[in-house]
Amino acid sequence: MSAVVIATAYGGPDVLEIANQPAGEPGPGEARIEIRAAGVNPVDGKVYSGAFGTDPARLPLRLGSEASGVVTAVGPGAVGPGAVGPAGPVQVGDEVIAYRAPGSYAEELVVPASALVPKPDTLDWAQASGLMVTGVTAWHLLAATGVGAGDTVLIHGAAGGVGVMAVQLAVGRGAAVVATASPVNHDFLRELAAIPVEYGTGLLDRVREVAPGGVDAALDLAGTDEALDVSFVLVPDRTRIATILSFERGLNTGIKVLGGAPGADPGTEIREAARLDLARLAQEGKLRVFVSHTFPLAEVARAHEEIMRGHTQGKIALIP
Ligand SMILES: NC(=O)c1ccc[n+]([C@@H]2O[C@H](COP(=O)([O-])OP(=O)(O)OC[C@H]3O[C@@H](n4cnc5c(N)ncnc54)[C@H](OP(=O)(O)O)[C@@H]3O)[C@@H](O)[C@H]2O)c1
Repeated sequence: MSAVVIATAYGGPDVLEIANQPAGEPGPGEARIEIRAAGVNPVDGKVYSGAFGTDPARLPLRLGSEASGVVTAVGPGAVGPGAVGPAGPVQVGDEVIAYRAPGSYAEELVVPASALVPKPDTLDWAQASGLMVTGVTAWHLLAATGVGAGDTVLIHGAAGGVGVMAVQLAVGRGAAVVATASPVNHDFLRELAAIPVEYGTGLLDRVREVAPGGVDAALDLAGTDEALDVSFVLVPDRTRIATILSFERGLNTGIKVLGGAPGADPGTEIREAARLDLARLAQEGKLRVFVSHTFPLAEVARAHEEIMRGHTQGKIALIP
C-alpha cells in the first residue's frame, strides 16, 4: 500500500485527502516508479474545482500528471523483454521523468513506459518533476507562432511555470523577449535575459517603449482581455498570437488557440516529441527549472492554496 492524494468531492483544497492504495504490478509495456517529486500545475486544481464539471461518478479523483522518480518494476514488453520508452528500454533503477502520468500525486505509480524519459542529472528531483507540463506547453506555443532568431516576442504572464519555460526557449532560439509580470518578478526575468514590464493599465505604452522596433509574436499565458487587446494592437499577423487560456475569444479572433479545450489545438504529437528535446536542453544546462516552493505530499492542500493564488514564480513540487 502507498499514499495517494484523492479529491473526495468537488470544491476547494479542503476536499483533498491522503488515501492508501496498492500501486499494482506493471503490465505489458508498463513500469512502476517510486515517486520522488510530483509537479503541481494550475490545472490540477481545476480538475476538482468543478471547472471541468462535477460528475459524482468520477469521484474520488486522483490528481497530478507529472513526476520524477526511480523505476522499481518493469512489465513485459510488447516485443521482447522489458518495456521501452521514447529514449529506449526502461530498466529497474532508472531515474526518470514521467509525463503524461495521471495520478502522479502519490508515493508510487504504474505508468506506460512510453511516458518515461531519463531524468537529466542537472536537475534535482523537484526540478525534474516540473520540467514537462510547462515545457511542452511552451514548446508548442513557440512552434505554433514560429518564434525564431530576430523576432521580438511578447510573453504575458512570464514568471509562472509556462512563462519561465517560454522565456528561456525563446531566448535560446535567438528571440528578444518582452515579459509581463508583477514588479517582484522583474529581476528574476532580467536574469533570464528578458525585458520585464508590469502588466495592468498602460501596458501597451510600456511595451512600445521597450520594443520600439515592434513586436512580431505574442504568447498569452495570462488569459486576460488585456493580454489579447495589447497583442492585437502590437502584432500585425494574428497567426503569430497564441493563447492557452482565452479559448472562446481566441477562436473568434483567428489566433492560435492551444490546449485541450473544444476547438483548440492539443498539439499532441509536437508536445510528445518535445519531451526528449526538453530533457536534452536541461542536460546541456540550457534550460533550467525554478522551483519556488516544495510541500510534503501530506500538505497538498497548502500547495494548492499556493498555486491557486495565481502568482507562482516558476514551479511548485510535492515531495512524497
Ligand atoms: N492550454 C494549455 O495547454 C495549458 C497548458 C499549461 C497551462 N495552462 C494554463 O495556463 C495558465 C498558466 O499556467 P502556469 O503553469 O504558468 O501558471 P502559474 O505558474 O500559476 O503562473 C501564473 C502566472 O500568471 C501571472 N499573472 C497573474 N495575473 C496576471 C495578469 N493579470 N496578467 C498577466 N499575468 C498574470 C503571474 O505573474 P505574477 O506573479 O508576476 O503576477 C504568474 O506568473 C494556467 O491557467 C494553466 O492552467 C494551459
